[in-house]
Amino acid sequence: MNLCMATNNAHKIAEMKPLLSASVQLVSLAGIGCHEELPETGDTLEANSGQKAQYVWDHYGVSCFADDTGLEVEALDGEPGVYSAMYAGPQRDSGDNMRRLLRKLEGKENCKAQFRTCITLILNGEKYQFEGVVKGTILEAPRGTGGFGYDPLFVPDGYAQTFAEMPLAEKNKISHRSRAVQELIGFLGRVG
Ligand code: IMP
Repeated sequence: MNLCMATNNAHKIAEMKPLLSASVQLVSLAGIGCHEELPETGDTLEANSGQKAQYVWDHYGVSCFADDTGLEVEALDGEPGVYSAMYAGPQRDSGDNMRRLLRKLEGKENCKAQFRTCITLILNGEKYQFEGVVKGTILEAPRGTGGFGYDPLFVPDGYAQTFAEMPLAEKNKISHRSRAVQELIGFLGRVG
């Protein structure tokens, strides 16, 4: 089976390949001749990942999966959520995004948050969705230089380090993304 991962990030594909059975040939967007920007205009992670995967199926007829991730902060009713990448503006700057988040949290006591990844798989035209969540807390100031996005502000429950202070392998063991990917892989193992 050919399965497109809706990304052109070679690292993501290389990471995913060994996790899939030999019957699944993983291809990138470029590998199916898709060079355009995928639509991403939904207001939920489910809608956005669904839009991207559906686009590939509708235009290229290849089974596909797409992911979308957001940081959901309890005291902000789930913000920045689906708007995590551009929380502080279209420049998609992590520093600006973190500063905006900290400003919004000033004076609030509840610092609980979670990262959530939604993966939509379109397999032979049928849609399936998978979720991965990691719960934690938001610090009052960033710590650490690894990772990306909001990692310097996020301490997963049960750990003392932020995602940006942890070795990447440690983050990958417990991350929202790896949990969603494990759900997907389990499903593909059962159907394929
Ligand atoms: P995407 O859907 O994977 O592109 O993620 C959207 C945005 O969520 C990113 O631009 C980051 O701001 C944030 N984000 C996603 N995953 C992570 C993570 O593992 N650590 C920190 N921030 C993340």
